[in-house]
Amino acid sequence: MKNIEAYFQDFTKGLEPSNLYEPMRYILTQGGKRLRPHLVLSTTQALDGNIIVAEYVAEAFEMLHNFTLIHDDIMDDAPIRRGMPTVYKKWNSNIAILSGDALATMALRRLLVTPCPETIRLKLIDIFTETSLLVCEGQQYDLDNETDDTCDLAAYLLCIEKKTAALLVGCLRSAAILSEREDCEHALSVFGTNLGIAFQLKDDYLDLYSENIKFGKTKGGDILANKKTFLYFSALKHACKEDNNALIHYFSISDMNPDEKIKAVKEIFDRCNVQKDVEKWIDIYISKAYDALRDTNLPEEKLSDLFQLLEQLKVRTV
Ligand code: IPE
Ligand code: IPE
Ligand code: MG
Ligand code: MG
Ligand code: MG
Repeated sequence: MKNIEAYFQDFTKGLEPSNLYEPMRYILTQGGKRLRPHLVLSTTQALDGNIIVAEYVAEAFEMLHNFTLIHDDIMDDAPIRRGMPTVYKKWNSNIAILSGDALATMALRRLLVTPCPETIRLKLIDIFTETSLLVCEGQQYDLDNETDDTCDLAAYLLCIEKKTAALLVGCLRSAAILSEREDCEHALSVFGTNLGIAFQLKDDYLDLYSENIKFGKTKGGDILANKKTFLYFSALKHACKEDNNALIHYFSISDMNPDEKIKAVKEIFDRCNVQKDVEKWIDIYISKAYDALRDTNLPEEKLSDLFQLLEQLKVRTV
């Protein structure tokens, strides 16, 4: 990971205009959990692949991830990420759009210079561009769901499989390809899908319930943006008639006082015990992810990093 951090420190050095490149450097040097690079590197290690090649791929996917975050924060009206002002708040939306576009382009160019045989590079670019489209599809569903009152749990799950899990799947498939272990690609994809769903369920939960200041996002932001997340569907399933109607109403309006709206929705969520339900479903998806990892038929000791990652996800607070 050291080489990757060093790359992000320097990758915009000397490039102008600074209003295009500085926001990229800003977001990529803020840290974050680095889950996607971690997945590429740990999986490549597990498959005895080339770590130098994996670093390029990891950098490209982390850049793609951060590009999606720059645009996501505009779409979600989010002022804070990783405890710092979001790019569109620190600069403005036009700069955030353009800088995001350029970052996605630089991510693809990073893959183009990956030191590996041409045939592998082409497959990596194929996965990368497919992944990028899946995330855009997921993000569009996410926007559509804000105002779609027919949106149900199945629609939500499809949305998060695309907007979040697809990127993790892309990292894992790429590790299989660069390591020339296509025999593991399918099991790793299933692992990534379940990991990604569990990861987004936790993100939805933490959006309202995180007590850790390091989570670094506005508390209750999803409620204010009328995001019908797992918490919402879980509450609807368990709510009395009155709470049910109130929830549907709250998630269709945008003019309520923010603190009052968050308080009112949270009271319903708490009454419906959504916390317990979300924990149960995170465990279900994590256990599916475990099964998929075992299906790779790799020796347990090779998988210890990835197993550990699943354990960390259960207890993560940021
Ligand atoms: C945020 O991803 C976007 C989601 C898919 C929920 P992360 O929670 O991995 O963000 P960072 O990179 O660690 O900040
Ligand atoms: C993230 O969903 C998905 C992508 C950025 C592609 P969220 O909107 O929940 O992510 P956060 O909570 O802003 O990090
Ligand atoms: Mg968001
Ligand atoms: Mg979003
Ligand atoms: Mg979120």
